[in-house]
Amino acid sequence: MPHIEVRNVSLTYDTPAGEVPAVAGVSFEIETSEFFCLVGPSGCGKSTLLNVIAGFVAPTAGDIRIAGEPVSGHGLDRGVVFQDFAQLFPWRTALGNVTFGLEMKGVGKAEREAIALEQLKLVKLEKFAAAYPHHLSGGMQQRVAIARALAYNPAVLLMDEPFAALDALTRDDMQRLLAEVWRKTRKTVVYVTHNVAEAVYLADRVLVMTPHPGMVKSEVRIALPRPRDPLSVEFLKYQKSLLRHLGQDAGAADAT
Ligand SMILES: Nc1ncnc2c1ncn2[C@@H]1O[C@H](COP(=O)(O)OP(=O)(O)OP(=O)(O)O)[C@@H](O)[C@H]1O
Ligand SMILES: [Mg+2]
Repeated sequence: MPHIEVRNVSLTYDTPAGEVPAVAGVSFEIETSEFFCLVGPSGCGKSTLLNVIAGFVAPTAGDIRIAGEPVSGHGLDRGVVFQDFAQLFPWRTALGNVTFGLEMKGVGKAEREAIALEQLKLVKLEKFAAAYPHHLSGGMQQRVAIARALAYNPAVLLMDEPFAALDALTRDDMQRLLAEVWRKTRKTVVYVTHNVAEAVYLADRVLVMTPHPGMVKSEVRIALPRPRDPLSVEFLKYQKSLLRHLGQDAGAADAT
C-alpha cells in the first residue's frame, strides 16, 4: 500500500472577488520512506496541496489517504515545516520549541527534554538548546523547526520551501543536513520547492505541476546514488530535464 494517496484532489478558494481554482484534479501516490518533491511555477498550488495533505484545509473534491486512512484534519502523524522563520515560538528556547508537541501529548518533562535534545542533536544544534529564536540565524531556526516537526516521531514530514529564504551557501548546508536526517530517520517526505537543483539533490521522485490552476504535468524519477554531486554531469542532466518539464530551459527562453 502506498503511504500517501492523493486522489483526484481539487481545491477552489472562495474569495470576495470570486472563485479561485488553485489545484485541479491532482492524483499521485507516495511510497513509505520516499522523498517526494513538488515543483511548479509560483501560484500553481504547491502550498495549497501541501496544506491539504497536512489536513489544514479540506479539498473541494477528491480525497487524501495516509496509510490507508482518509485525512480529516491535522494529526500528529504529520510534521510540518514552513518557509517562514517566524514559525517558531519566540518566547520559548530552541529546546522549548521542540518539546512543545510532546507537552501537548502529555509526555513527562524529563522524557520530552531527552527526546528534544536527541532531535536537536540530529540537526546539530544541541549546543543551542537554551537559545531563543532571535539569537539564532535563519538556518539555525529552520533546523529547530525540523527538530520540532520530528519530535513526536511523525511518519510523514511535510516541508514548504523551508530553505527558500536562506542565502545560497547556507541552503547548500541545509540540503546536505536534510539528506542526512532523511537517511537516518527514513520519513516519508513531501517537499515543496521552486529550486530544481534542490529537487534533484534531495528527491527520489519529482512531480512537476502546471501553472495555475495546478495539475500534474509530469513526473521525473531521480535515479542518482546518494550522496549526490551537484557538479556531476548526470546531476546537471536531471536539472536540465526538470527545467524542460517546467518550460524554463534555454530553448523555451529563446522561443519567447
Ligand atoms: N487563502 C487563500 N485564499 C484565496 N486564494 C488563495 C489562498 N491561498 C492561495 N490562493 C491562491 O491559490 C493559488 C495557489 O496558491 P499557492 O500558494 O498554493 O501556490 P504556490 O504554488 O505555493 O505558490 P508559491 O510558489 O508562490 O508559494 C494562487 O492563485 C493563490 O493566489
Ligand atoms: Mg507556496
